[in-house]
Amino acid sequence: MEQASKLADVSRQFIDRINKKESLVAIVGLGYVGLPLIMGFNKIGFSTLGIDIDEDKINSLADRKSYIAHFSDDGIAEMVDTGRFVASTDFSRLKEADAILLCVPTPLSKHHEPDLSYVTDTTKAIAPYVRKGQLIILESTTYPGTTREVLQPILEEGSGLVADEDFIVAYSPEREDLGNPDFDTATIAKVVGATTSQGLDMATALYETLIGKVVKVSTPETAEAVKLTENIFRAVNIALVNELKMIYDDMGIDVWEVIDAAATKPFGFMPFYPGPGLGGHCIPIDPFYLTWKAREYDHQTRFIELAGEINASMPDFVVHKVMLALNERGKALKGARVLVLGIAYKKNIDDMRESPAVVIMEKLRDLGARISYSDPHVLVFPKMRRHHFDLKSKKLTPQVLRESDCVLLATDHDAFDYDMIAQHAPLIVDTRGRFSATVENVIKA
Ligand SMILES: NC(=O)c1ccc[n+]([C@@H]2O[C@H](COP(=O)([O-])OP(=O)(O)OC[C@H]3O[C@@H](n4cnc5c(N)ncnc54)[C@H](O)[C@@H]3O)[C@@H](O)[C@H]2O)c1
Repeated sequence: MEQASKLADVSRQFIDRINKKESLVAIVGLGYVGLPLIMGFNKIGFSTLGIDIDEDKINSLADRKSYIAHFSDDGIAEMVDTGRFVASTDFSRLKEADAILLCVPTPLSKHHEPDLSYVTDTTKAIAPYVRKGQLIILESTTYPGTTREVLQPILEEGSGLVADEDFIVAYSPEREDLGNPDFDTATIAKVVGATTSQGLDMATALYETLIGKVVKVSTPETAEAVKLTENIFRAVNIALVNELKMIYDDMGIDVWEVIDAAATKPFGFMPFYPGPGLGGHCIPIDPFYLTWKAREYDHQTRFIELAGEINASMPDFVVHKVMLALNERGKALKGARVLVLGIAYKKNIDDMRESPAVVIMEKLRDLGARISYSDPHVLVFPKMRRHHFDLKSKKLTPQVLRESDCVLLATDHDAFDYDMIAQHAPLIVDTRGRFSATVENVIKA
């Protein structure tokens, strides 16, 4: 009883400060998720503290420069100019914060298992500075149970304080979709779950200042499961259309035409599109967080495994199609000049993480093809952990197109001049269904 009323007081004071915009909102991890979030809270009037272990990012922010192409230098300068933004590598500054939001990576390990080391390292670094009345929200995508079973005990141990009494933890997943002009942080509904009703009220009050719609769920585990469910849904549906693509291809049917026609059904169908394989930080990775946790409950995640298998086989399908298309023209892949268009993992952005285009480029190179690429968003092939190409983006001209034996459309950026490509490329292998089936020299893959 005493504990409940103590918590009610904490919650009331927290919400009061939020409503008056007196709170200091801290974001730990200033990457693709953390940076727009801190810009959002800053813009609506909060004092904001950004913490990252990457000194280059902190220095860049101090220099009023962006390090993510999607966000302009002007946007960063605007935030710095408010005088309500501090960026630092010094975790002790978190003592000052009312709310601490964690946006650190959650990749897979070499063995395809959840790698929570970023979350645990960050939580350990925060713990000594946690103080009474603070709200700590995990935003990283993860399996159900992480907030309560992993984050909370580390915070209690490191701070000597008691969760749900002195401080409160919550979980709220991110739904950023960089490059999508229809949505931004403020217009995407946000799901929140906390360990107590007071904590849920606190987190909701915070997010409601910035986001149009906040969806409360009963526990952090539910909120964690919501995020995984969304991404598993995508991974499985993309695998399904990828499988249909291969079947219809053998039947001489264009899967993109099928999907577009099916999508005219006003109910019960949602279009997903095939491609050269999965890319990005989320869809190829997140489903396997559930796979790992499900084993604790003696469950096999068969849909997830199958979807992973099909999606991961797409680069081989594309390579095979390139080989067949060249063969038909009396050419071997070995020695062929293959120009890859679009190497970012999705269109109109520069993000290369898990890009299937790179896997395809590597497979083609291993088979002896001479690889070049053109991508207006990735002018120099970046340093990647597992891939290496010493290449620069080629400017797309009629001559460059004519000089290639095969033009492989891996990512269909809007900036490409598709008419010019169709007119000058001797052979186009199209993994995105961008070219109409009637264009000569186009092979769908
Ligand atoms: N990128 C997306 O579109 C997206 C969308 C939804 C959810 N997510 C999830 O959000 C989380 C963050 O993803 P992201 O894309 O922003 O990653 P990111 O790699 O772009 O950014 C993570 C940041 O955390 C920093 N960091 C790493 N360890 C740290 C530590 N110990 N202390 C402080 N900072 C640390 C890194 O330097 C980096 O700046 C992941 O769980 C991801 O799955 C990402």
